[in-house]
Amino acid sequence: MRSSLFPQNFLHTLGTLPPYYNNQLRFKIMRPENKSTPSASKSQIAANSNNPELNKLRQILHSDSTNGWDKCWEEGLTPWDLGSPTPVLVHLHSTGSLPIGRALVPGCGSGHDVVAIACPERHVVGLDISDNALKKASEVSVSFPITLSSGSPNAEHVKFLKTDFFTWCSPQKFDLIFDYTFFCAIEPNMRSQWARKISSLLKPDGELITLMFPIDDHEGGPPYKVSVTDYEEVLHPLGLKATHIADNELAIATRRGKEKLGRWKRFDCQSSL
Ligand SMILES: C[S@@+](CC[C@H](N)C(=O)[O-])C[C@H]1O[C@@H](n2cnc3c(N)ncnc32)[C@H](O)[C@@H]1O
Repeated sequence: MRSSLFPQNFLHTLGTLPPYYNNQLRFKIMRPENKSTPSASKSQIAANSNNPELNKLRQILHSDSTNGWDKCWEEGLTPWDLGSPTPVLVHLHSTGSLPIGRALVPGCGSGHDVVAIACPERHVVGLDISDNALKKASEVSVSFPITLSSGSPNAEHVKFLKTDFFTWCSPQKFDLIFDYTFFCAIEPNMRSQWARKISSLLKPDGELITLMFPIDDHEGGPPYKVSVTDYEEVLHPLGLKATHIADNELAIATRRGKEKLGRWKRFDCQSSL
């Protein structure tokens, strides 16, 4: 089903967010077209192959498939990193629209999304192959400003793991898996393997949420261009079908129109692997 995610007034939505996110979001809304906004200008270059920083990042990743991601984090070549939680994920969390239980964020980077959705009802595992990314993530988790009504910080409900998503053997399955800019970061010929791994890690009634970006027509990568069809092609054979696909109206300014939220559930429990 494809529909508009936020039919109501977008600014009205802000009133439902906790103060910290509200401030982050207002900052971005007040300066949506301001090219000097760090996260905005950084995300913009991700889709521009003529950009020297992006070319350097691609060069590192293509020349060192083992440690390339870690080098990018070490050198601060992280145009994907918003430096704050993803607004639409925060919205879903704060409106009680995310599954509770165990959640996984593969390719979690600096871990803002991991910490943002952690709570006593939801334990979140953030997984990344880069030591430097996880160093940042552990700093984020201890400095996170929000404490819950119970008084316990989100960090208590978070675990970061350094491991390769494709070879990881998890002892447990997940109620929720959230993918943002991980699918577009892997080589396109790995997408079937990505889907099989996701499927094997999801509980039979678990939910996959994909924030699909960048939906455009640039060449090369990472990030590689994506389309809804790219996800359907690898998820449908495993019985994972979209229950909801919509434009992400909470995308940051430079990603707006290039991002869709997809929610996927298993319809054929026999196809879980
Ligand atoms: C484009 S970044 C996205 C980070 C984060 N999701 C975000 O939106 O800011 C991709 C991340 O995936 C990690 N990564 C790449 N290949 C991986 C793998 N095979 N297993 C686990 N993490 C991986 C990289 O280190 C990097 O942090």
